[in-house]
Amino acid sequence: MKNKSKSKIFRLTREVVFTENIVKDINELLEVLSPGKGKSINITRLQKLVGHPFLEIHVIEVAGKVSGMASLHLMEVMDKTVARIEDVVVHPKHQGKGLGKKIMSHVIGRAKKKGIVSIELTSNPKRAAANKLYQKLKFKPRETNVYRLKLKK
Ligand SMILES: CC(C)(COP(=O)(O)OP(=O)(O)OC[C@H]1O[C@@H](n2cnc3c(N)ncnc32)[C@H](O)[C@@H]1OP(=O)(O)O)[C@@H](O)C(=O)NCCC(=O)NCCS
Repeated sequence: MKNKSKSKIFRLTREVVFTENIVKDINELLEVLSPGKGKSINITRLQKLVGHPFLEIHVIEVAGKVSGMASLHLMEVMDKTVARIEDVVVHPKHQGKGLGKKIMSHVIGRAKKKGIVSIELTSNPKRAAANKLYQKLKFKPRETNVYRLKLKK
């Protein structure tokens, strides 16, 4: 059942008034993204993030509630600006209605407008829906090793 609910995409900027509800909605989405990991954000952190010149947080609102999001991270490497997409999630109540595709297409469009050459993202193979979505949007798996050095527990 596609596009049944009216949705609106907007970027979180300094001009957006961060109500407790927006923060609550985002925290709900973080819990959907990483269940049981206790990931959460407060207004102070959100205000800091939206003021960051290399980060764009885009959200999708359905009936006045932030019901999905995706963030675009711009990264300067030596010869070009590349981008990375993170925090892609749609509230379970609205999954399967095309919102994931809609916000991803929007964020990809933003990157194109900025002249970005390529976008990277990672997704755990267990995330079946996400992997399907990315492949549908023409992301191709890339042969590389992904490393992480944990500096804090
Ligand atoms: C991944 C996610 C954002 C997709 O959002 P969504 O709004 O449900 O997706 P859409 O309705 O826009 O579907 C777009 C495409 O994704 C794929 N897809 C969506 N749900 C799927 C499912 N349950 N199983 C398999 N493929 C699925 C399909 O290819 C679909 O295209 P189609 O309907 O034309 O076949 C959503 O499932 C989600 O939030 N999952 C939990 C968090 C997560 O895993 N985030 C990704 C982190 S890397």
